[in-house]
Amino acid sequence: MSANGQAGEYLLETRDLKMHFPIKAGVFKRTVGHVKAVDGVDLQVRKGETLGLVGESGCGKSTLARLILRLHEATAGEVFFEGENILKYDRRQMMKVRRNLQIIFQDPYASLNPRMTVGSIIAEPLRTHKGTTDNIKRRVQELLEIVGLSPEHYNRYPHEFSGGQRQRIGVARAIALNPKVIICDEPVSALDVSIQAQVVNLLMDLQKEFDLTYIFIAHDLSVVKHISDRVAVMYLGRVVEIADRNQLYNRPLHPYTNSLLSAIPIPDPKLERQRQRVVLTGDVPSPANPPPGCTFHTRCPRVQDYCRNNVPPLERQEENGHRASCFFPVVSGQKIEEPTASTPYKAGE
Ligand SMILES: Nc1ncnc2c1ncn2[C@@H]1O[C@H](COP(=O)(O)OP(=O)(O)OP(=O)(O)O)[C@@H](O)[C@H]1O
Ligand SMILES: [Mg+2]
Repeated sequence: MSANGQAGEYLLETRDLKMHFPIKAGVFKRTVGHVKAVDGVDLQVRKGETLGLVGESGCGKSTLARLILRLHEATAGEVFFEGENILKYDRRQMMKVRRNLQIIFQDPYASLNPRMTVGSIIAEPLRTHKGTTDNIKRRVQELLEIVGLSPEHYNRYPHEFSGGQRQRIGVARAIALNPKVIICDEPVSALDVSIQAQVVNLLMDLQKEFDLTYIFIAHDLSVVKHISDRVAVMYLGRVVEIADRNQLYNRPLHPYTNSLLSAIPIPDPKLERQRQRVVLTGDVPSPANPPPGCTFHTRCPRVQDYCRNNVPPLERQEENGHRASCFFPVVSGQKIEEPTASTPYKAGE
């Protein structure tokens, strides 16, 4: 069941999802507090779309990804996949669902076992799901070709590959079982700018070919702008704004989104001179002790007294589902040039 009561409207949905990591201290390792890494996230993902997820370091993006995949057990909340709350599933049920939910990690160096051949790395999920040896080898070679590597790379080791090629191996492993959803956690952040574009374009091609749904996590707002249909912005464990890509980039409502966008360099020097940067003051508060009221109020350029004691709900502010959690939203965000649809992503765009 989706948030508005209709089953099957969304492929994936989280409801009031929370991850509060205990902070232990002292000889007896008593819990003295909690890091509220994810603190009540409602997110809906439609079939076939790419939902971009952005926000500063430490705002809870990776933790949210891990909660959806049940790599962490949530403190509270629900995760619906194809209409069923998978947080209630036992191991056997979870095993079945897991083939449909895959992840690509940021660091293609750390995420591939250096002692395993590329063939066995990609074959791992196939073996776990009981393929036969012959079939597995054929499938791995097919996957290598799909991601732009050669089937002859089968017996090589990860260190023999460049960063971009290693990320292709990570992609091959993620698509091995024909999943429905792939969570890409900063899949290109560790790569050279020129290589980033190739991996982003590969992901976009695969999405079309295999009807994939992506959650695409990144720091780089230009990459997110290129690949996403909708974008969600996180701050201190919560989603503070979500909208269609163009809407969010051209008319941001939340002052936090506005400041993030104003920091993107514009290649045209004339436009660059015209626009106003919104520089945030202060550091991100600790998720162990988030500010009361609107958690952004300590850094917000539009803060009013009301914001210090009241929590703004993530509410629909406009037609077409644009939602933001702000009592005093930005009226007209700065205009940033329209991205041209379906052109390949170019480095430094
Ligand atoms: N296993 C853990 N135990 C305790 N605290 C954790 C754990 N994992 C993450 N955290 C904390 O939760 C918060 C969110 O971390 P998370 O890694 O989800 O952020 P992020 O948005 O992915 O950051 P980045 O952009 O740097 O990858 C941080 O304060 C982090 O220190
Ligand atoms: Mg992260």
